[in-house]
Amino acid sequence: MEIQRIKNSEWTVLLPLNTISISHGQRQIFDKGDGKVLLFVHGFPLDHRMWRGQLEEFSQKFRVIAPDLCGFGSSDSVTNDAVLSMKQFSDELVEILDALDIDEPVCLIGLSMGGYIAGQFLRDHPEKLWSLVLCDTRSESDSEVAKDNRYKTARVVLEAGSSSLAEVMGTKLFAPQTPACILEEVKTMIADASPAGIAAAARGMAEREAFTDELKSIAVPTLVMAGEYDSISPPDEMRTMAEQVPDSEFVEISNAGHMSPLENPQEFNATLRTFLQRVEMG
Ligand code: MLT
Repeated sequence: MEIQRIKNSEWTVLLPLNTISISHGQRQIFDKGDGKVLLFVHGFPLDHRMWRGQLEEFSQKFRVIAPDLCGFGSSDSVTNDAVLSMKQFSDELVEILDALDIDEPVCLIGLSMGGYIAGQFLRDHPEKLWSLVLCDTRSESDSEVAKDNRYKTARVVLEAGSSSLAEVMGTKLFAPQTPACILEEVKTMIADASPAGIAAAARGMAEREAFTDELKSIAVPTLVMAGEYDSISPPDEMRTMAEQVPDSEFVEISNAGHMSPLENPQEFNATLRTFLQRVEMG
């Protein structure tokens, strides 16, 4: 199996990783497999490596695309005062698909911030989806307190660097029993994100609109997954969200927190596999 070391971290990831150019710079993309397209969209402040338990397995049957969004992983970043809105990220996904000559609908699989971006994608490009997977995410916008915290995060990270956020965020993301080595992996990913990218995405999330009203209009099969111990997007809230989507199912992933694909990849993958089989059989 081929591996490649990314930046100076201890991480290794599966090839193939490509660098493509879009209108606002270069993006690193994992792109492997043939068939219908699965587009994995990472959470904040992570990158495609958070899907390491999924990419190889699903590329056996599908074409799997997992970008590092602007400002994250090994992709280009922005200036310190920028805002990266969910619309900009959603448009970036369309540009990435165009650059890869993908014009058929995709299954978008978004975790947390990736789910907020999915909400925007649904609004702007519903015809580009054949199905949707919302993981550990929310359809509501931020409270005023949460917004203030985002702006504070932006200031702190620009002053103290990305690793400062790794220390603060790290433990909130996991189930109590999740092994410390997974926490270390996530801290590495956060440290590898650019401070300007983190600040810009934090501001973008603060300003994002809710997509709760649009849930009832989702016209594609939708899987909603939440880690049993997710304290950021709690399972009860996600279940309620799923109930509003016409063709949807909700699954709680056991022994997992906010990072369910990393914490319990076996259960996460089995759930995703079953959903995709059902949808493909139509
Ligand atoms: C994420 O995982 O993307 C973040 O927890 C999103 C957020 O801070 O709302």
